[in-house]
Amino acid sequence: MLSFMVILTVVLHTCLSELDILHPSRPCTEAKNKNAYDTFLYQHLRKDIPTDPRNLRKWQQFIDKINTWDRPKQSFFPFREARSVMAVCSSGGKMHEGNLCISKKPLRFFTVYIKNMKQVKNVTAQKQHVILGCDTFEKKCRPTHFKTNKDNATPDNKKPDCSKAMANTSFIPFEELFQI
Ligand SMILES: *[C@@H]1O[C@H](CO)[C@@H](O)[C@H](O)[C@H]1NC(C)=O
Ligand SMILES: *[C@@H]1O[C@H](CO)[C@@H](O)[C@H](O)[C@H]1NC(C)=O
Repeated sequence: MLSFMVILTVVLHTCLSELDILHPSRPCTEAKNKNAYDTFLYQHLRKDIPTDPRNLRKWQQFIDKINTWDRPKQSFFPFREARSVMAVCSSGGKMHEGNLCISKKPLRFFTVYIKNMKQVKNVTAQKQHVILGCDTFEKKCRPTHFKTNKDNATPDNKKPDCSKAMANTSFIPFEELFQI
């Protein structure tokens, strides 16, 4: 009986490990990098971003302030879009691939190009379906990565909402955004 139990345990264990390999990554799994959400907010969703893409001087001061000159291409959401951005990892997004979710509706954001790691070259206002990496922190699925949607991908309606990715993930109350 004991040996049967041992064999069963080993078989079960092997099956589970293989399942892991078959489904390597999906949205809303436990985050490995505990700072990824804070980093996402710092780099993409802030209260202090300039609002006029033509005012390069303001953008220059802004990048100086947050000191991200090492990133040649940077994207920022207007803060009033915050609720929609957070929702991409929940009911506002469809599963895309890997841990990525894509917004159901196009969202507005600015793309900033940096020249020689010290000068804002240009800023464009865009509106597009956005692709975000989504991982779980303290049982809430949150954005951790902004991926350029270079092929202009759109959500696949046959795929589940990102809120389905993890049964226990709850919608992120808007108020929590202000704890940044
Ligand atoms: C902004 O600069 C980038 C990088 O040089 C370039 O690819 C892009 O076309 C420019 N966009 C505009 C609107 O000038
Ligand atoms: C999901 O929630 C239930 C009930 O709160 C809990 O018992 C279970 O451990 C949770 N599962 C995960 C993966 O967090």
